[in-house]
Amino acid sequence: MCGIVGYIGYSLAVPTVLNCLTALEYRGYDSAGIAYLDGGKLEIVKRVGKLENLSNYLKNKIIPSSCAIGHTRWATHGEPSMENAHPHTDKNKLVAVVHNGIIENYVDLKKALEKKGISFYSETDTEVFAKLFSENLFAKNPELNEYYAKYYAMHNTMHNTYKISKKRIIKALKHTISMCEGAFAVAIVIKGYEDTIFFAKHKSPLILGKCRDAFMLASDIPALLGYADKFYTVGDDELGYIEPEKATVFDLTLKPKKVKFKSVSIEPEQVMLGKFHHFMEKEIAEGADSVLNTLNRLEKTKALEKIPAQIFEGDFNLHITACGTALNAGLIAKYIIENQLRIPVDLDYASEFRYKKPLLSNKSICLFISQSGETADTISCAELAKSMGATLIAMTNVPATRLESICDYLIPTSAGPEIAVASTKAYLAQLSALYDFIVYVAKIRGNALEFDIDSVKNGVIKNNSVNYKLDLTELANLIKDYSSIYFIGRGLDYFLAVESALKLKEVSYIHCEALPAGELKHGSLALIKQDSIVIALLTQSELIEKMLNNIHEINSRGAKIILFSPFVELKQFVYKFISIPKVDDLLAPFSIIKPLQILAYETAIAKKLDPDKPRNLAKSVTVE
Ligand code: G6P
Repeated sequence: MCGIVGYIGYSLAVPTVLNCLTALEYRGYDSAGIAYLDGGKLEIVKRVGKLENLSNYLKNKIIPSSCAIGHTRWATHGEPSMENAHPHTDKNKLVAVVHNGIIENYVDLKKALEKKGISFYSETDTEVFAKLFSENLFAKNPELNEYYAKYYAMHNTMHNTYKISKKRIIKALKHTISMCEGAFAVAIVIKGYEDTIFFAKHKSPLILGKCRDAFMLASDIPALLGYADKFYTVGDDELGYIEPEKATVFDLTLKPKKVKFKSVSIEPEQVMLGKFHHFMEKEIAEGADSVLNTLNRLEKTKALEKIPAQIFEGDFNLHITACGTALNAGLIAKYIIENQLRIPVDLDYASEFRYKKPLLSNKSICLFISQSGETADTISCAELAKSMGATLIAMTNVPATRLESICDYLIPTSAGPEIAVASTKAYLAQLSALYDFIVYVAKIRGNALEFDIDSVKNGVIKNNSVNYKLDLTELANLIKDYSSIYFIGRGLDYFLAVESALKLKEVSYIHCEALPAGELKHGSLALIKQDSIVIALLTQSELIEKMLNNIHEINSRGAKIILFSPFVELKQFVYKFISIPKVDDLLAPFSIIKPLQILAYETAIAKKLDPDKPRNLAKSVTVE
C-alpha cells in the first residue's frame, strides 16, 4: 500500500530510485512519481499507472541529481490521477513529500489550512501533510517563505546564505507529525538541501539503508537490496535525516538516537526474477522451499518453545485473526486444531473481529497471521486484544514488523520475500508453521496426533517433483473466457477451495465462488447449467462417497467438472482429472494447493493479464 524510496549520495539518484521502486510496485501501481534536487532546482515528475510509464518517460534523460525521493501509489484518497500522484508539494514548491500510510485527521487539518487561505490541488492527505509541514517550517516568519520563493523565481536556484537550519526543519517535522493521526512514513526533500533527505515514521514501515557511497530509505529491505548492505528499521515516532555519509535519528523528544545498522540474510537474487517470467510463477515454484525453510528455522531457533508451555496447559480460548490468504491458512489450522487437539478455535476476519465486541480476557490466546506484518486490520485487532489482556502471538514472514512489536511472541515463517500480490509460497509457509504450532501444543497437552513434521516435509518434497504445467496450461485455456467458476470441496478440501477460488479470482478477474460441496443443493445449484465450470477438490478418503454424490448432481445438470484428486478411479466421472500425489488426509493442503496456484497463474497468462499486479489490489494493505 504505497511504497517510498529515497537516495542521497554520490551517484545518480533518479535511476537508483526508479530501480528500487520496481521492487516496491507490489505495494501499489496506480501512479508513480519522483522528486529530485538538481542544481538548486526541485523537480517533480509523475505518471499515472504502472511504474513503467514513469520509467519510459525518464529513460533517455540523464539527470545529474544525487538526491531523490520516489513513490508508487495505491490510491486511498482520490482516484489515480496526475493531481493525486505523489510527490506532493507546498504552495511555493519549496518542499516535496512522499508518503506511505494514511493521515486520518487530514480533513480537519485541511480545513484549518484552508482558513488560512491555503488552497489544494489534489484530494490527498499527503498534500495536506506537505502544506502543513511548510506552514510549520515558516511559522515564525512567513515572509521568509515568500522571500525564498521570489529569490528562487529570479535566480532559478536556492538562496544558500539564509538557509533554514536543519534544527528548525526537524522541529517543524516533529510538530507536523504530532498534529497528524493515523499511520505514516514520509520522506521529504527541501529546496536548498541537495545533501539531505528528511524522514519521519509513525506506524507505517520505514527502513534506512547504508550503502558504500550513499544512504537510502525505503518501505522495506528488499527494495534496497543490491544497493545497501546494512539496514536500520526506523522505530515508531522516530524522525531524522540522511546525508551521503551519515544518518541522524531522533526520538519524539528530539533526543538523538544511537542507531545500529545491521546486515540481513536476504540475497539480491531472492528479489530477482531469474529464469522466471513473473514473481507469481517463481514464488509458486519456491513453495516447497518455503515449507522446508520455515520448519528448519523453527526447529533451529526453537521459536515455538519461547511461547511458555503453561499458557496451553489449563483452560484458554484460542482466537485466530487474519486477512486474505493468511485467514485462509487460519481456516486450515482451525480445522486441524479442533479435529486433533479438540480445542475450540474462534476464527475471524480481522476487519470483522475489531468491531464485534470480541469476548477476550486474560485467558485468551490470540494468534495473528500476516505475511507482511503490516496489515492495518490485523494490527488494530492485535492492539485491541492487547488492551483486553490477551496473550498475543504473531505469525509473520517479514522481519521486524509492527505486528511483531505489538505481540508477546513470534512464530516466524521463512518464505523469503514474497513480491507477487497474490500470496502463494507464504500461504504454504504459514500452513507449515501452523502445523508445527499444533505439534508443539499437542506435546504440551499430551494429545496424540495423526501426523508429524517429518511427514509434512516428505509430502512437500513428493509433491514438488510433479510437473503440472502442460495439463494446467490446457485447462487455463478452457476456463479463461468464463465469467463465473465454482469451487467445491468437503472437510479440509472446502477450505482449500476457498483459497483456490481467491487465487483464481484475484489474478484472472473471473468471478469465483467456493462452496462446501454439500451446500450446493441449498441454493447455488440453481446457477449450474450446461457447460458451467465446477472445480472439485477431493483428497479426504472418508468423504469420497459423499463427494461423488455431489459430482453426480452437477453432472446431471450438464456442467463440466474438473477434479483435483489423488483418487484416479474417479477420473471416469468427470470432464477433466488432475492427478495429485496421495498423502495422509490431514496433510492434503500441502499436496493440492500447488496445482491450483499454477492454474490461477496460467489463467492470468492465458488472458494476457499481469499476474503479479492484479488491478485494484496491493500486497500490504495499510488502511482499515
Ligand atoms: C492483501 C493481499 C493478500 C494478503 C492479504 C493479507 O489483501 O493482496 O495477498 O493475503 O493482504 O496480507 P498479510 O500481509 O496480512 O498476510
